[in-house]
Amino acid sequence: MGATFIILGTSMLALLLAGYFAQQYLPPPKPKIVGIDLGTTFSCVGLYHAVSGTVDVLEVQDGHRCIPSMVAFSDDGVLVGYKAMAQSEHNPQNTLYDSKRFIGKVFSKDDVKKVQKQYSFKLEADEYGMVHYVVKVNGTDKKVLPEEVGAIIIGSLKQAAEHNLTTAVNKVIMSVPAEFDDLQRNYTKKAASIAGLDCYRVINEPTAAALAYGLHKKQTLQTVLVVDLGGGTLDVSLLRSQGGMFLTQAMAGNNRLGGQDFNQRLLDFLLMLIEKRHGIRVTDKEDLQTLRLHVEETKLRLAYENRAEIKMNLHSLGNENFSEVITRMLFEELNADLFNKVLEPVKKVLEAAHLVKEDVDEIVLVGGSTRIPKVRSLIHIFFGKKPNTSVDPELAVVTGVSVQAGIIGGMWPLTVSAVELPTRVTKIHVH
Ligand SMILES: *[C@@H]1O[C@H](CO)[C@@H](O)[C@H](O)[C@H]1NC(C)=O
Ligand SMILES: *[C@@H]1O[C@H](CO)[C@@H](O)[C@H](O)[C@H]1NC(C)=O
Ligand SMILES: *[C@@H]1O[C@H](CO)[C@@H](O)[C@H](O)[C@H]1NC(C)=O
Ligand SMILES: *[C@@H]1O[C@H](CO)[C@@H](O)[C@H](O)[C@H]1NC(C)=O
Ligand SMILES: *[C@@H]1O[C@H](CO)[C@@H](O)[C@H](O)[C@H]1NC(C)=O
Repeated sequence: MGATFIILGTSMLALLLAGYFAQQYLPPPKPKIVGIDLGTTFSCVGLYHAVSGTVDVLEVQDGHRCIPSMVAFSDDGVLVGYKAMAQSEHNPQNTLYDSKRFIGKVFSKDDVKKVQKQYSFKLEADEYGMVHYVVKVNGTDKKVLPEEVGAIIIGSLKQAAEHNLTTAVNKVIMSVPAEFDDLQRNYTKKAASIAGLDCYRVINEPTAAALAYGLHKKQTLQTVLVVDLGGGTLDVSLLRSQGGMFLTQAMAGNNRLGGQDFNQRLLDFLLMLIEKRHGIRVTDKEDLQTLRLHVEETKLRLAYENRAEIKMNLHSLGNENFSEVITRMLFEELNADLFNKVLEPVKKVLEAAHLVKEDVDEIVLVGGSTRIPKVRSLIHIFFGKKPNTSVDPELAVVTGVSVQAGIIGGMWPLTVSAVELPTRVTKIHVH
């Protein structure tokens, strides 16, 4: 691998010089290529700006930068993002999400049956095992492909970029999970193409996160650990990088661990408390929804504060209000075993790459759940060094993919390149 780095490093020097001269004599161009993070639950678009060297993640809907990766077919037409989410409860059969789980993926007949049980929309597979949705539009069944759902979301992001730049946008760089195979990558590109965007390249999400931290600028060999803890999944990747070259050395993950599980623990605790205090087991759907919203809000507040008061009115309790102070310590106790599980795939990737924790130079955190102080401190203590948290973990991937778009679009002052070396490591699953 060392030799590969040296040879590629020489060609980097030529690019570096070219970049230097361009910087001296050319006017600042507008971004030509946008970066898109088409996520499982949220999607966003970013622009890399020459001169300042900064990335703007654009507002897409009503002040929101990231929109839910959700599309709904209704009598009012096709709805995207928050508009799709707002009507999802009344139109569950026609509200489509998780298309990233299906895009370009081949399922067995049994898998389709199993997966169908988790959703209120209808799924079907073709003779090759490729899955599509079936929705009812104006009384008739309509087949909708996962890449078409992706395209509708991408279309919204493209519109936001065009609005911001006041010019047409037709080129994109996209990020995909490192474990995506060629077919999944091709179908992701196809989604962009249906939306009228030419996808120049797809890059791995962990590499994008490393780019967001500027790790492509480091000339010495770096070992980078990327921990991505989202709403429902944990993904850990070990990368090696040098002079803008990235190689994925190992991947491990737990696809049943994330923010939803931490919320559930707090919800169960509150339900038990209400039962103890009022003798009532809350089953009312609206009350449960109220509780869920308060639980999510409390979790977010406990990331910055040591205690948060929950106060709410529940139908089940008549006129009596329910209130309780939740401390960060209690939240951590309720989730102690789950938080500890975060380190399992971390140990697995080190093992798989024949490295020890002291070999890791940089730790990059991705995903909203890495805001939880306990998650950060467990990683801090394990490695004996602070993870880098200067980039918003929910925007790290879109930021990095936009930096890559800037590099490919030749946007100075980016005088370095970023290249992913092909690799065939398989992901280790931990439960
Ligand atoms: C259903 O029909 C109405 C009226 O023709 C139309 O406006 C609407 O877009 C259609 N719905 C969808 C999802 O195509
Ligand atoms: C483009 O987005 C940036 C960053 O969000 C914002 O500051 C700027 O006002 C936007 N420009 C337009 C024309 O919407
Ligand atoms: C993906 O697309 C490339 C280029 O179009 C093609 O060469 C390759 O065979 C495709 N791979 C799969 C698995 O479809
Ligand atoms: C419950 O809370 C609401 C809003 O904070 C308040 O107006 C109401 O008086 C409270 N009810 C009781 C019985 O404390
Ligand atoms: C975080 O990343 C920035 C940018 O690369 C770097 O300057 C800083 O030293 C890093 N901090 C830590 C704690 O690693």
